[in-house]
Amino acid sequence: MNSVYDQLLVREHLSRATPSASLTALDEVALREQVKQLLTEHNAVLIAHYYTSPVIQALAEETGGFIGDSLEMARFGARHSAQTLVVAGVRFMGETAKILSPEKRVLMPTLEATCSLDIGCDADEFSQFCDEHPDHTVVVYANTSAAVKARADWVVTSSIALQVVSYLHEQGKKILWAPDKHLGDYICRQTGAKMLLWDGACIVHEEFKAKGILDLKKIHPTAAVLVHPESPANVVDVADVTGSTSQLLKAAGELPNDTLIVATDRGIFYKMQQENPNKLFLEAPTAGQGATCRSCAHCPWMAMNSLERMARSLREGSDEIQVTPELIQKALVPLQKMLDFPKQ
Ligand code: 13P
Ligand code: SF4
Repeated sequence: MNSVYDQLLVREHLSRATPSASLTALDEVALREQVKQLLTEHNAVLIAHYYTSPVIQALAEETGGFIGDSLEMARFGARHSAQTLVVAGVRFMGETAKILSPEKRVLMPTLEATCSLDIGCDADEFSQFCDEHPDHTVVVYANTSAAVKARADWVVTSSIALQVVSYLHEQGKKILWAPDKHLGDYICRQTGAKMLLWDGACIVHEEFKAKGILDLKKIHPTAAVLVHPESPANVVDVADVTGSTSQLLKAAGELPNDTLIVATDRGIFYKMQQENPNKLFLEAPTAGQGATCRSCAHCPWMAMNSLERMARSLREGSDEIQVTPELIQKALVPLQKMLDFPKQ
């Protein structure tokens, strides 16, 4: 155990909405050992997103696995020699791993872990939208189903979206973007491209409040503000740095500020605090003044990645990602373009 793990575990135990809430510390130690053993027995590697709980991220580190953003997770899974990839994140991340490594078995702690962007972009409706604009290059965010990716010309993650859209815009392409309207709007403002936008949003990032951040800055005047571009424009406008999870993590280390207000899922605090033990990290506020119902900065689907579910999935081979060979073949084309994109 390390100190970041200890600190964040306390917070996590208080807030966890998964079956682990009932675990004692001893149960948790035993489960961690069980998962480690199962990973070895099944020649499996654990690939975790920055938004998963501290216990999952620490386990990935201890077992030679990986923690990263959605682009890095995809790259790591494709490169690694393990026959089974255990993807702790949300379903589109497991599907991406399967598309890039069809010969491998891809397990998730639960296939129910999804994403509001994926849910809000039905493949048939999206295909119809594309058919209505045949002269447009279709760029989709990685937070989508394999079927939506299969309809795209390009797939991008938030780490690479600006570069790919700038490149297409320079070539004079008309662009159709889906599904995140806030990220789409941010890209339009940054690149000058006028994209047709699908009407989707992330239920976590949409909750951050610009006024709450400015009020918090009054209390911490030396703080810098870090914002993920899935947040609304007025929140992005108060940011010192806007970027994907890995870009925000890098900025947390590079900025001279001793205090950082962070507008993204609080799971990222595990790595931020570990890499910057002397800095103070504060969650950006999500509730407006006088709100009676408090939202939080934690993705409910990421929170479903528990040790028990991971152990069960490895033991029983349940929750295995299935993507048809036909979809794999189609979705691989725009995904591979992203991975091969030269300007990274
Ligand atoms: P990243 O691509 O930055 O990892 O983000 C994925 C995501 O789901 C953000 O909410
Ligand atoms: Fe999807 Fe938002 Fe959760 Fe990321 S934080 S997985 S975009 S719902």
